[in-house]
Amino acid sequence: MAELRYPDLRSAMSGLLQKISNTFQVVLIISAASTWSSPIPQNPGYGTPAVPNYTTAEAGNPFVDGWYADPDTAIYDGIYWVYPTSSYAYEEQTYLDAFSSPDLINWTKHPNILTIADVKWAKKAVWAPAPAFRNGKYYLYFAANDIQEGEAEKGVIGGIGVAVADSPDGPYIDALGKPLIGEYHNDAQPIDQDVFIDDDGQAYIYYGGHSFANVAKLNEDMISLGTLEDGTTFKNITPENYVEGSQMIKRDGIYYFMWSEGGWTGPDYSVSYAMADSPLGPFPRKSKVLQQDNAVAKGSGHHGVIHVPDTDIYYIVYHRRALSETLANHRVLAYDRMYFTEDGTIAPVRMLVKDNFADGNMIGWKTYGGEWEVVDQQLAVDGTPGGMALLDTNFTDLIFNATIYMPDDGSSGSAGIVFRATGNESSGFSGYYVGLSPSGILLLETFQNQARKTVASTSTSGSQASIDDDYLLRVIAVGDEIQVFVDDLEKPELKVIDSTFTHGKNGVMVVDLAAEFGNVSILKPDEIQSKAS
Ligand SMILES: *[C@@H]1O[C@H](CO)[C@@H](O)[C@H](O)[C@H]1NC(C)=O
Ligand SMILES: *[C@@H]1O[C@H](CO)[C@@H](O)[C@H](O)[C@H]1NC(C)=O
Ligand SMILES: *[C@@H]1O[C@H](CO)[C@@H](O)[C@H](O)[C@H]1NC(C)=O
Ligand SMILES: *[C@@H]1O[C@H](CO)[C@@H](O)[C@H](O)[C@H]1NC(C)=O
Ligand SMILES: *[C@@H]1O[C@H](CO)[C@@H](O)[C@H](O)[C@H]1NC(C)=O
Ligand SMILES: *[C@@H]1O[C@H](CO)[C@@H](O)[C@H](O)[C@H]1NC(C)=O
Repeated sequence: MAELRYPDLRSAMSGLLQKISNTFQVVLIISAASTWSSPIPQNPGYGTPAVPNYTTAEAGNPFVDGWYADPDTAIYDGIYWVYPTSSYAYEEQTYLDAFSSPDLINWTKHPNILTIADVKWAKKAVWAPAPAFRNGKYYLYFAANDIQEGEAEKGVIGGIGVAVADSPDGPYIDALGKPLIGEYHNDAQPIDQDVFIDDDGQAYIYYGGHSFANVAKLNEDMISLGTLEDGTTFKNITPENYVEGSQMIKRDGIYYFMWSEGGWTGPDYSVSYAMADSPLGPFPRKSKVLQQDNAVAKGSGHHGVIHVPDTDIYYIVYHRRALSETLANHRVLAYDRMYFTEDGTIAPVRMLVKDNFADGNMIGWKTYGGEWEVVDQQLAVDGTPGGMALLDTNFTDLIFNATIYMPDDGSSGSAGIVFRATGNESSGFSGYYVGLSPSGILLLETFQNQARKTVASTSTSGSQASIDDDYLLRVIAVGDEIQVFVDDLEKPELKVIDSTFTHGKNGVMVVDLAAEFGNVSILKPDEIQSKAS
């Protein structure tokens, strides 16, 4: 489901509820619901989650390992859940995994929460799970078999199904023994569903592939379809440019219908939205919310939304493809902050590049030489004779900072950051390296294969308190002007004009040294301004 909110009943009682324990809240809500028949609490298992207040996945995107796509989200018992598609060939898409986290940083994988063994009509292409909670049960809506127009009439079985479980991690068992929506209506392929429960307790299913979207009501049993006011079951709500990936959220009484545009295999897959006063539309397209960024990732789309309860904090959880990835199914899960502007519109999402290693891993990094591991929220390397770890980014102008810790073990050498690096393992890499030595020598070098050449150097010994501290190293490169800062972010230690390299990957590097890196952050210079405004 798109987003979980307190029901009216709950908000009416919130003053009282805040005073009592979380466990007791749940009991009270359930008993209140059974006494007063309506409205029905959507999610007594909601709990009180932590309030993550991040600008992006601060511990790095992708936030979990593996090929996944089409994530949708839920909050159950104070825990954040992400339910994605397993991103493999259709015949191999026979199961779903889920991920849970108390803080959006550390994630636990729950494998095989639903498999085709528990859905006898599903053979392949198990797609886009949408979670919902009601009646004390956990529901998972999914599509299977990728049926095409006209196939249902020939007896082919497939479409959108619903499975039920007693716990968020399953096992989810087919509730109907057949699809809930097993044929095309209004030209919409029965895939890519989202289930949304409105404040009045009415549940809706939004869905559709092949560029058409429908909405239908779900009855209170959550496993049968209701009837719309005009007596029909399905309403065509297709907005301009709609392709697939329906998603509904509600904020301040406004319904935000969101969807994906472009082809999922291409770089221009993206997310757009519409605003409406009614859950049934109409949904006039506003603008794009999320799209590829040549510096960060491509094919960003098919999303879910996390709303942190009782705050105005929203995250968009989506899949994307790394810049140098060519295979369509090599999709990974990412999230970024989604901000609403004062007039209620959604600001374009900036995919940020950060890693503070707080999750204890280095997913998304590729290493070349050296022994790397995350220890105590730092990326540690034993780098004799040298080693490099790169992110699959492609920045031109940038503000890049990282902390560096160099043990005073008497070794000579340096540790620092790499930018505008191109190449590969077989051809070798070239780019810029800014390195700092334990004795306080700061170097800006170009490297090309194994050859390093000093562009500029200086001694920073005056500015360091102790070599046992973390240094904060920052590079600002705009066009051919490169500035390097150490600790003092106002006054550059080095400022040079050099145009040898213009764009490429970013990362960290050591030469003949063991070191630890932390709080890596790479931004386009204009993102500083737009964040401040
Ligand atoms: C999130 O952090 C910002 C400052 O970084 C602060 O202004 C805001 O109040 C915080 N929001 C919540 C809900 O804690
Ligand atoms: C997250 O995982 C890291 C690495 O395993 C660990 O150090 C940290 O304590 C965990 N944080 C939480 C909140 O569990
Ligand atoms: C990186 O960016 C440069 C300059 O914008 C572009 O020419 C190049 O094709 C990009 N490379 C990748 C892998 O995206
Ligand atoms: C790194 O740079 C970003 C962007 O300027 C900034 O928000 C962040 O605070 C910096 N990190 C440190 C440790 O200074
Ligand atoms: C490595 O780069 C070279 C030169 O650009 C290119 O010819 C080669 O195909 C690349 N190899 C791989 C494995 O990407
Ligand atoms: C990273 O930044 C956080 C927040 O500013 C800070 O608490 C932490 O010590 C930093 N980590 C390192 C390795 O400097």
